[in-house]
Amino acid sequence: MKMWSGRFREPLDPEFERWQRSFAYDQRLLPYELAASRAHANALEHAGVLSSEELSDPEAEDVHHFVEKQLAVQIGATGYKLHTGRSRNEQIATDLRLFVRDSIDTLQNLIADWVEAILSRADAAGNAAMPAYTHLQPAEPVLVAHWLLAYVEMFLRDATRLADCRKRANLCPLGSGAVAGATLSLNRQAMAAELGFDGPTANSIDATSDRDFALEFVQTLSLLALHLSRWAGEMILFSTPAYGFVELPEPYSTGSSAMPQKKNPDLLELVRGKAARLMGCAVTLETLVKGLPLAYNKDLQETQEPVFNAADAIIAMLPLVTGFMNTVEFNDAKMNQAASSGFMNAWAAAAYLVERGVPSRLAHEAVGKAVALAVERGCDLQKLSLADLQAIHPSFDAGFHSCLGLTEVLTLHDVPGGTAPRHVKRALQNARERAAALRAVEQTATR
Ligand code: ARG
Repeated sequence: MKMWSGRFREPLDPEFERWQRSFAYDQRLLPYELAASRAHANALEHAGVLSSEELSDPEAEDVHHFVEKQLAVQIGATGYKLHTGRSRNEQIATDLRLFVRDSIDTLQNLIADWVEAILSRADAAGNAAMPAYTHLQPAEPVLVAHWLLAYVEMFLRDATRLADCRKRANLCPLGSGAVAGATLSLNRQAMAAELGFDGPTANSIDATSDRDFALEFVQTLSLLALHLSRWAGEMILFSTPAYGFVELPEPYSTGSSAMPQKKNPDLLELVRGKAARLMGCAVTLETLVKGLPLAYNKDLQETQEPVFNAADAIIAMLPLVTGFMNTVEFNDAKMNQAASSGFMNAWAAAAYLVERGVPSRLAHEAVGKAVALAVERGCDLQKLSLADLQAIHPSFDAGFHSCLGLTEVLTLHDVPGGTAPRHVKRALQNARERAAALRAVEQTATR
């Protein structure tokens, strides 16, 4: 039996009938549909519609229709009582919220694994240094750990966005009916509690048409994918022979069918590419809801697949990047070497003059001239003689050369959030605590 055939005298066009079904993809919501139906059935019992005996005893249009049919097959006509006082509009809203909530709980653990893998590498990097770039030009030396911690911040922010999204998603639409509220006085608090929701939604019109939770979820995942793509893009760059900072792990690389010497960063390239899919999912959802009048419209059925697609893509990707991070090799010697050349100590040199009372604009000018001289001579700043330097500015003195070493330059950035080793050490510890807290989140998985 169809869920709505009573009013119709003509059968549906068979092609349309097949085309409009969502069961092909919404069947993955089955566990949530069952949990939500159980909560609804319990509320019906309390409202006196289903007796305890009835309660103790499935070519479906969608997952809701499927469950009702299956129930009728198993327990007879009583099964058709299940839909009393409810609508598929509130059911799909509930099922999707449960799906998003479970996915967030899974993701928080996967993000913790990923962040912890980065943190282990940061820990292992010790005092190894590398160049930091601005405009992709060598700017200042930083600790490798400091660079890795920059990525940690991005992913920890993603985790807080997911946690925030979870709060708004975790309200129960059951009892909202089709649009105006259930036609029975159901115990909405009890249904919400049974499903682990923080409480019932406040407005039936909003609850049946709202997909903000899906949008926030997918937008957050698209931002996470964007962060992964930035990381992948930089790792690809650093793995090229021109940089040589990163040696690609063979288990996560592929060869070329044509050029025998090649080892290609396929994992990183696909990670960079996946961001496009995630952004597409977010744009699909935004476009679906844009200008949509209240309340439920069948357009909303199209919000399901982008949510599944986005969750699947990230849930599959995070363990792979974690595996990659655990096995990739950093070439410390090359990074250190790159960090020690290219005049990245020029700012430290200017700071040295400033400390001797030279106004910073003039110190900048003087060191700029010293750099130009060193470029002309094909040497580093440290190799210029004191006489050459003093000809540029009289404040250069005997202590100058000893302030230009890598360790001195790193230590100079002695501010929380900066690359001085003592601050990086603290930052590492702080990030560890925030990563561990992701796992501590209460898990109410319905799967
Ligand atoms: N399969 C539908 C969806 O995903 C369920 C809700 C159908 N509601 C309706 N009024 N036809 O949106």
